[in-house]
Amino acid sequence: MDDSALFCVGYMMDIESHTIIYLRELLSTSVAEDPSITAFLSCWAYEEFFHSQILKRVLESQGITIDDRRFAELRRRKPADRVQQSFARLLSRMTRHFPAVHMTWGAINELSTLTGYQALIDRANHPLLTTVLTHIIKDERRHFSFYFNQAQTRLRPRAAQLLTSTIVRNFWGPVGSPVRGDTDARQVCNYLFADEERSHRLQRHDSTIARLPGLDWFDLASRYCGA
Ligand SMILES: [Fe+2]
Ligand SMILES: [Fe+2]
Repeated sequence: MDDSALFCVGYMMDIESHTIIYLRELLSTSVAEDPSITAFLSCWAYEEFFHSQILKRVLESQGITIDDRRFAELRRRKPADRVQQSFARLLSRMTRHFPAVHMTWGAINELSTLTGYQALIDRANHPLLTTVLTHIIKDERRHFSFYFNQAQTRLRPRAAQLLTSTIVRNFWGPVGSPVRGDTDARQVCNYLFADEERSHRLQRHDSTIARLPGLDWFDLASRYCGA
């Protein structure tokens, strides 16, 4: 595997390993009071943890040693956590439409992740990585379906659409960018979606999210990657 592919696998491993921290933030909001969501989140966090472990093994098979302190270090470095967490907690107490935001955000993250994995399979063209990612993608599709279907239902009220649109428009960033930073996210993006054929994947990603009620304007992934 070349250095760019390895960098990308490391980025994805870090995102997957950060799920437990994302979950901690979510459970401090009113989402914790919705049993249909918490049932899903319980299984989701378990599966995402194993994705990070499998990607770690892939890196190790390529001669890269991953020390578990790497994950602890990533968790220490996230200065925006407290502000974001307080804002989300407050917002979730102020409006009953907060789960619509969460489900939409989750749908975008899951679809971005699986779109990234599909692009990585093509770009790296490495048999072991193809086998591993093909399995992971099956889980990501299931995660995406849950979030997307929930978002479709919860976005029916106009107020939920307005709230979600405002938050997504102003705060959205590519999955993993809050953890690894914008420079790394752009490097991954340039590697995965640089040519015309691959940029179509991003347009399909955006048009899928744009099917959600009130999100017909959504083009943020294509815009971020310049597709
Ligand atoms: Fe995952
Ligand atoms: Fe996922």
